[in-house]
Amino acid sequence: MKLRNLRVNHFKTPLGMYIGKPVFSWIAEDTPDKRQKEAEITVKVKGETVFSSGKREDISSLGFQADFPLSPRTRYDWTVTVWGDCGDSASASSYFETAKENEPWEASFITADFPDKNQHPLLSKEFSLTGDVVSARAYVCGLGLYELYVNGEKAGDEYLLPGYNCYDHWLEYQTFDLTKLLHRGKNAIGLALAPGWYKGDIVFDRYHDLYGDTMKAICELRVTLSGGEELVLGTDESWKSYPSPVTFSGIYDGEHIDMTKKVPGWCLPSCGAPAHGVKLAEETTPLIARIGPKIVKKKEFAPVKLIHTPKDETVLDFGQNMTGWVEFNVSEPVGSEVRLSYGEVLQEDCFYRDNLRSAKAEFIYISDGEARRIRPHFTFYGFRYVKVEGISQIKTSDFTACHIRSDIDPIGSIETDNPRVNQLFKNAMWGQFDNFLDVPTDCPQRDERLGWTGDAAVISSTACKNIYMPAFFHHFIVNVGFEQSLLDGAVPVFVPVPKPNGFISVRELGLTSDDVFILMGTLREEGAETAKVFGDFAQRFPKLKELIDSTPESERAALYKRLEECASSLWLNANPDGTAIWSDVATLMPSAVYENYGDVNQLREEYPVMKSWVEFIRRQDRKDGDRGLWLTGMQLGDWLSLDTEDLQNPMGATDTGYIASVFYYISSTLTSRAAKVLGYDEDAAEYEGLAERIKKAVIGRFFTPEGEFTIEGTQTACVLSLYFKIYPEGKRDAVARQMRSRLEMRNWHLDTGFCGSPFLCMALSENGMNDLAYTLLLNDDFPSWLYEVDHGATTIWERWNSILPDGSISGTGMNSLNHYAYGSIADWMYRYLCGLSPAEDGAGYKRALIRPMPDPRIREASLCLDSASGIYRVRWHYDGETLRYEIDIPFDCEAEIILPDGREDKVCAGHYEY
Ligand code: BGC
Repeated sequence: MKLRNLRVNHFKTPLGMYIGKPVFSWIAEDTPDKRQKEAEITVKVKGETVFSSGKREDISSLGFQADFPLSPRTRYDWTVTVWGDCGDSASASSYFETAKENEPWEASFITADFPDKNQHPLLSKEFSLTGDVVSARAYVCGLGLYELYVNGEKAGDEYLLPGYNCYDHWLEYQTFDLTKLLHRGKNAIGLALAPGWYKGDIVFDRYHDLYGDTMKAICELRVTLSGGEELVLGTDESWKSYPSPVTFSGIYDGEHIDMTKKVPGWCLPSCGAPAHGVKLAEETTPLIARIGPKIVKKKEFAPVKLIHTPKDETVLDFGQNMTGWVEFNVSEPVGSEVRLSYGEVLQEDCFYRDNLRSAKAEFIYISDGEARRIRPHFTFYGFRYVKVEGISQIKTSDFTACHIRSDIDPIGSIETDNPRVNQLFKNAMWGQFDNFLDVPTDCPQRDERLGWTGDAAVISSTACKNIYMPAFFHHFIVNVGFEQSLLDGAVPVFVPVPKPNGFISVRELGLTSDDVFILMGTLREEGAETAKVFGDFAQRFPKLKELIDSTPESERAALYKRLEECASSLWLNANPDGTAIWSDVATLMPSAVYENYGDVNQLREEYPVMKSWVEFIRRQDRKDGDRGLWLTGMQLGDWLSLDTEDLQNPMGATDTGYIASVFYYISSTLTSRAAKVLGYDEDAAEYEGLAERIKKAVIGRFFTPEGEFTIEGTQTACVLSLYFKIYPEGKRDAVARQMRSRLEMRNWHLDTGFCGSPFLCMALSENGMNDLAYTLLLNDDFPSWLYEVDHGATTIWERWNSILPDGSISGTGMNSLNHYAYGSIADWMYRYLCGLSPAEDGAGYKRALIRPMPDPRIREASLCLDSASGIYRVRWHYDGETLRYEIDIPFDCEAEIILPDGREDKVCAGHYEY
């Protein structure tokens, strides 16, 4: 027996992360034994046992939570031993190291003493060490973005630190192991800062200075020397500052570096350059050790082509649409300007970037005459093509495209005998690689790149099969929870919700979204007097009145301006009334994570987010007549479907009240299931009852007793009904008939959007129309998945018609070539084409359902999933007309196998052929 993937809180050897109560997990394999009989976990500090579970039968490899007090900055060595049912056993060890836990900081936030708040600062400090370094750690947070340098070298392999989260609720700090970068004698440590998401432009409205207007940082360095003494050096007023050669950076607009302004040796001992001082900066938001994965460089690409376009442009093609940037060697005369512009697609064989909207997405470098390799530091791009200007002699070997994303890796793969289907699977994977950059984003290229919750909600089930997601999604759900706490349980359409500096929650002042709507309307009326409008409003809202009355006359105008900004941003962005699918990320994501990884501890932590969301919808329902329906809210419908004549209307033809009510049902069901798993029996019964009530109400309102729709029976309407089994009793076939005829009307093509597409093929395969699922998969004319592949897609497009048949882009208003929602077809490939799903009571694949549903149009398919429980393999192929299957089930798992010819088997770990 061998043990691998030893993880704590789903990280291998986490260093300086938030641990709370550690959750241990691992995979046992390579054993003739079938089942785990017992397991034991022990944890030691410097050889002393601080926790031992004892040998127990109830320890799950998917997540065992240990409850013992953790000390700050301490290395914990842990060992797991597993005993199999036939005498085999194995032990393996790993470790984790805590961050500062609750100890106070011996450092303060500092900021450069510059007159211009937009000047990027470099902060540094020289110091001496009187002995050899045994160990060194730095605990750091820099706002908006930072890179840490030691003795002139960048520390660590991370980029875009401290990452993106709700900076108004919490600040994540990072821990660096600097042992190898420091030495006896003189040293220097430095921080390069930039505005990033915190202070720079964000959201298409181009808010800036959102969380603060000052770039600042805190750093606590702790060095243990060979003599045993410990040196603590924190940021304080003794640090120095220099203006950075990075003269501009922004998430959307790129970066400018002027090397003629470099400060040689700014982070080396004895830097002689004239320095500015620093001053202490205020910061009241709590600092918490990071919980999300790092952002790192995952892959490098050499250019596949150097293109000279008809417009005489020089363009590098990297062959893959990706998130990241280009690094290159440069050696141009002093003062010359090099410019790189990033784009996703060529148009008429020329460089193109209009679909990036206002995002400039460029990199400008002013040379100091020296040869060097250069990269951007505080931005990222979504691109395949890069236009290069200002380099006299372009050598493709000087350029490398670097794919940057959160440090999460693939666990699933699918291959068939159809290369185009394989490319589609690969594109779906890339759609996720490119949009998992600390938060799940909608797209990586235009002036958006936000944590759109709907996109994340519909991809979460697929993502959990493609990539190892628990920690990444947990980080997101924690942020969702923070935002939700401002909105009585409602979940915004994107998280984090950027809020203007000095944000005032208008909701806490007692205004509902209707009130905000009226307020904004009144303020925008011609001739409206701001003071009077607020004065009138204050008569109805005592808390608002109190706030106005307590503000001195001279500051009222500023207060009104701030209130107006807050009201408009809350209304536009935070969506206090909730939105079906988008807000349902609160239930869909934790459920997908639990279903795929089976860690009950993570589910327990995320459950309050699920419950608050359902309770929120229930309150909307009650306010609206308590009918078991959700007919209000700001709905986005079946986003970007193709079933409405008016293509200006992105919401599609499916009734939004139907969609919202179905998702109210889904969220209640998922919450009830989670409650059952967690042993919250009362909640389980409560939400099951609620779900039943909603289902009845939906059937009563949206169906005739014969199973016809009372609303337009779009493809999406049928998909939701069939997949979630919502139809009048015995009327499944009636809905299935409507589904079939809707597809026929479209000549057997789909017209579904974000809501219907993720469940479309699953609804077909589940309801006797598996052949149609394959037809949709294999269609290659518009609209279809392979249409994108045939038009050169290397990721998933935002719209089915992002690129028109003649190769031209269909529009620039909202058209990215790197959105992931439609990549959810991969979920169907895992669960139906190859046939692997976790059984309903088999979260984390401890029990699996294996029910492949082949179709002769594909001759061969194979899946490999390195699940949380071990490696599953399912392969089928046609041998003439005979279907043959090979299936591998990992140790300590069991599966129910159902083959299309009716054969059934119940198996445990092993290799099986049929
Ligand atoms: C985003 C989407 C998002 C949608 C909702 C778009 O701009 O890119 O993916 O879900 O807006 O309104």
